[in-house]
Amino acid sequence: MENQNQLIDSFGRVHNNLRISVTDRCNIRCFYCMPSEDVQFVHRSKIMSFEEIVRFVRLVVPLGVNKIRLTGGEPLVRKDVPELVKMLAAIPGIKDIGITTNGILLPQYAQQLYDAGLRRINISLDALNAEKFKEITRRDDYEKVREGIKSAHAAGFDPVKINAVSIRNLTEEEIIPFGRLARETGAEIRFIEFMPLDADNQWEREKVLFAHEIQEIISQGIMPLVPEEQHDKNAPATNFVFEDGIGRIGFISSISAPFCMSCNRFRLTADGKLRNCLFSLDETNIRELFHTNAPDEQILEAVRNSIAAKKEGHEINTARFIQPDRPMYSIGG
Ligand code: 5AD
Ligand code: SF4
Repeated sequence: MENQNQLIDSFGRVHNNLRISVTDRCNIRCFYCMPSEDVQFVHRSKIMSFEEIVRFVRLVVPLGVNKIRLTGGEPLVRKDVPELVKMLAAIPGIKDIGITTNGILLPQYAQQLYDAGLRRINISLDALNAEKFKEITRRDDYEKVREGIKSAHAAGFDPVKINAVSIRNLTEEEIIPFGRLARETGAEIRFIEFMPLDADNQWEREKVLFAHEIQEIISQGIMPLVPEEQHDKNAPATNFVFEDGIGRIGFISSISAPFCMSCNRFRLTADGKLRNCLFSLDETNIRELFHTNAPDEQILEAVRNSIAAKKEGHEINTARFIQPDRPMYSIGG
């Protein structure tokens, strides 16, 4: 039966997909997401507790939310994330829990996460060599990430997805190695067009390596890609498989082909602010409502109002675009 209470915005988009940032802290410093030094992290005392996160999820499940993804910063630098996964998996109505991680701590956590009920895992990795990894992340942890990817496969995650941000003059040489990795390991590689969410305001359209360019390089260098049937019509990636059926590649064309009109996502930041879009300029303070003992109905009303106010799309390709104050690490991807 159709749920009458669904979170539908003024463009008819149904919001069933909540992304929860569990911390804004991170063990690396990717330039497209964080400043190199003097990062301002939220004080620990202002971070949503697991109990508060679970309370919020319980509140929004009757509004049709059934899909959750944990993000950061780096989610696994927060203590006991597998415990949170268990708590969330136990909420009736939650069908699907995922995580987006940089992979460094997966040798330690992959199996616990799987056993706790997590099934979808996206590992961020932008280069397949240690020097370029360091250039991007300002840290030396390339081998740890590769170990983390192995641990994810070994724990039973299938597929393992790898997110690579595509940046002009950085990503070009990585494309063929990524294509080979997809074919050799079964990992799905997803190229994400660089978006204006960096802390240093260095983003420019010229710095984006577009999906169609990557597709061309990979088709020439390995073999043609054929489109796959889109199972989830809300998924931002367009997926391809190599012509011989071996190896999957996806593109998240946030800039060259925005998918805002099929967006089903909203976000809760680590400090308890609700955001109806990655690029929204206002937010709703859920944590404060909790701390002032607001009744459930008032919180639900605040959630509905936030979704109702969602803009049509991100406007990056227009002169009206304003980059939000929060860089990626403090929103949660
Ligand atoms: N543009 C595109 N993708 C980004 N990510 C982080 N910052 C940006 C950006 N400015 C990616 C991360 C991670 C996911 C959460 O978003 O690499 O895979
Ligand atoms: Fe950390 Fe992810 Fe941001 Fe990189 S993109 S700094 S891994 S939160």
